[in-house]
Amino acid sequence: MSNYHIKHLEEYYQVYRKSVREPEHFWEEIAEEHFLWRKKWDKVLEWDFTKPEIKWFEGAKLNITENCIDRHLATRGDKTAILFEPNNPEEGAEHITYRQLYHRVNKFANVLKEQGVKKGDRVCIYVPMIPELAISILACARIGAIHSVVFAGFSATALATRINDSDCKMVITSDGSYRGAKTIDLKGIVDEALESCDNVETVLVAKRINSNINMKEGRDKWLQPLLDKASDQLKAEVMNAEDPLFILYTSGSTGKPKGMVHTTAGYMVYTAYTFKNAFQYREGDVYWCTADIGWITGHSYIVYGPLANGATTVMFEGVPSYPDFGRFWDIVEKHKITQFYTAPTAIRALAKQGVELVEKYNLSSLKVLGSVGEPINEEAWHWYNDNIGKGQSPIIDSWWQTETGGIMITPIPYVTPTKPTYATLPFIGIQPCLMDENGEELKGNQVEGRLCIKYPWPSIARTIWGNHQRYKETYFSAFNNKYFTGDGALRDEVGYYRITGRVDDVIIVSGHNLGTAPIEDAINEHPAVSESAIVGFPHDVKGSALYGYITLKDVGESRNHDNLRIEINQLISDRVGPIAKLDKIQFTNGLPKTRSGKIMRRILRKIAEKDTSNLGDISTLLNPECVQEIIDNAL
Ligand code: PRX
Repeated sequence: MSNYHIKHLEEYYQVYRKSVREPEHFWEEIAEEHFLWRKKWDKVLEWDFTKPEIKWFEGAKLNITENCIDRHLATRGDKTAILFEPNNPEEGAEHITYRQLYHRVNKFANVLKEQGVKKGDRVCIYVPMIPELAISILACARIGAIHSVVFAGFSATALATRINDSDCKMVITSDGSYRGAKTIDLKGIVDEALESCDNVETVLVAKRINSNINMKEGRDKWLQPLLDKASDQLKAEVMNAEDPLFILYTSGSTGKPKGMVHTTAGYMVYTAYTFKNAFQYREGDVYWCTADIGWITGHSYIVYGPLANGATTVMFEGVPSYPDFGRFWDIVEKHKITQFYTAPTAIRALAKQGVELVEKYNLSSLKVLGSVGEPINEEAWHWYNDNIGKGQSPIIDSWWQTETGGIMITPIPYVTPTKPTYATLPFIGIQPCLMDENGEELKGNQVEGRLCIKYPWPSIARTIWGNHQRYKETYFSAFNNKYFTGDGALRDEVGYYRITGRVDDVIIVSGHNLGTAPIEDAINEHPAVSESAIVGFPHDVKGSALYGYITLKDVGESRNHDNLRIEINQLISDRVGPIAKLDKIQFTNGLPKTRSGKIMRRILRKIAEKDTSNLGDISTLLNPECVQEIIDNAL
C-alpha cells in the first residue's frame, strides 16, 4: 500500500525517508495505485541534470482528463466539480457537476477538433476566471493540444509575445471581463495583439459581458453556437507520459518571458498527491484557491490537482474588494469553504480594512489556510491566523514556483507544527539544499544560502519552449548537478526552511513575478528617456513595489516631470500590464555602473530601501559621483 495520505508527523518522517531513499519505488507505488493508465511505464525515472534531461514514467500512456473527469463519473457524477462564483454576487453561483463537466469538456474538445486543432498544436487561452477557462484547458488536454494560458490582465504586447513565442494557431478569449465594478475589453486587447501575430488562424470568443465587439470575418467565431452543435461524446487522445501538457510563461531576470513546459504524467501525479496532503483534502470538502488560473497556482491547485482527487474546486471571477472588502469571507460562509488558499498580498490588503468585515461572517467551516507566492510577513501571518483561522486552522506557507509545477516546501496541516514566516519542511520526495557563493553545500542547521534542489521530482518543468539552452543556463548552471531556484533561504535550528526572497533581478509585486528587463525596455521606449533601472522596495500591501531610476536624454529637460511619470507608467501598462506600474519614479543624472557598464542595481536597491549606511565600495564604479546625487534626491 502506498502512503497516499499522511496523517501524523511520525508518518511524514517515515514516508519522507522512504521517498528519498527509494524515490523511484516510492513514486511508482503512488502512480500505480491512484491513477488511471492506458498503459503502464517501462521506466519510472531517467535523469541527468547536466544535459538537463528528466523523464518520468517513460513508456506510460494516459490522458490526464480521464483522471480528472471520466474516472469520477461512476461514483461522483452528480458531485460539484467546479463551483463558479461570479463577480457579481447577485448573479448567483453555478455548480458544474463532474458529469456536466465531462459533457462540456467533450463538446469544447470537439469544437477544437472541428476548427483544425490537432495533437501537439499550441492553443493560447486568454480568458477571464469564468468556467470556459477551466473547460478550455481540459478540452485541450483531452485532444492532446498544448495549452498556453496567458493571464487575462496582461497587455496586448505581452499577449502577442507569448502567442508568437509558442506559435499558437488559435486564441480562445471572451468579449470582455468583469473586474469588480469595471469591465475590461478583452477582445479589443486580443485584436491589438493579433496585429503582430501572423500565425493565428482562429479566435474563439466566449460571451461574458455582452459588449459590442468587432468580429473579424473568417478568423473570429462565437463559441456558443459551435458548442451547441458539437457532440458531448469524445474519446480522449492517448498521450505519452512525457508529451507536453502545457506551456506557462514566467518572467526571467533578462530578456523575454520563459515558456515553461510541463509534461503529462509526472505533473499529474505530483499535483494530485501534493493537493491531497498539503491541504489534507477529504471527500466532501469545498476547496477554494483565490488565484487566477492564468498563474501556475491556478493550473495546479484550481484545475488539475483538485479534479484529479475528485474534489469540489471553487473558481472566483471577482476581486476581494467587490462589492466590499468582506467578499472573500462572504464566499467562505456561503459555500462553507474548508480549505482557503490565497496570497500574502491579499491578506495584507484585507487586514488593512479592519476586522469588522470579517466578524460579520461565519468562518467556522475553515480547516486549512494556505499562503503562496511570496514571503508572508509576521504581521500578516498573525492576522490570518487570529482573525480568519481563529487560531484553529493551521496556515500552510507553501513555497514553490511555476518551474516546479507543484508545492515543494510546506507544512502539512495537522501534521507539521507551523512557525510564522517559515515554509517549514520539504514535501515528500523533495531534496532541498542550501549553497554558498562558492558552490559549496551548506551542511547542518542554522545556515543561509541559495536554495537548490538535488534530485528530480515528477512535476519539474522539462524545458523552456524553443530554448533548451536557456533552461540549462538558468536552472542548472549556477550549481553543479543541482536545480537552482533563484531564491535565497535559511534553515533554522530544527531544519525548517524560511524563504528570504529572490537573489536575481526578478521582483515579486503582489505575488506576481516581474522581470526588470521588460519593464526597463518599455520605459526606454519613451522618447525622452535615455536609460533606466528598476528595483523593488518594501511596500506594506504589495510586499514589494517598483522604484524606477530614470535618466532623461536632455538633462535640462524642461518638461513637466509629473506628466512624464504618467506617460512612462502608461507605456509600462501598455507593454507589460498595469501590475508593472512604478510606485516611485526618480529622475537622475546618471545611474551607477561598473567599469564594464553594468548598472549596479544592488546600490539602487539599498537607496530605495532607505538603507544607505553600507553601500559597499563605490570607488570602483565608473561614475561614483552619481551615487550621492541619487541619495540626496531619493523619494
Ligand atoms: O520567490 C519565490 C516566490 O515566488 C517565486 C515563484 O513565483 P511563480 O513562479 O510566479 O510562482 C508563484 C506561485 C507558486 C519563488 O521563486 N514564492 C512563492 N511562494 C513563496 C515564495 N516566497 C516565499 N514564500 C512562499 N511561500
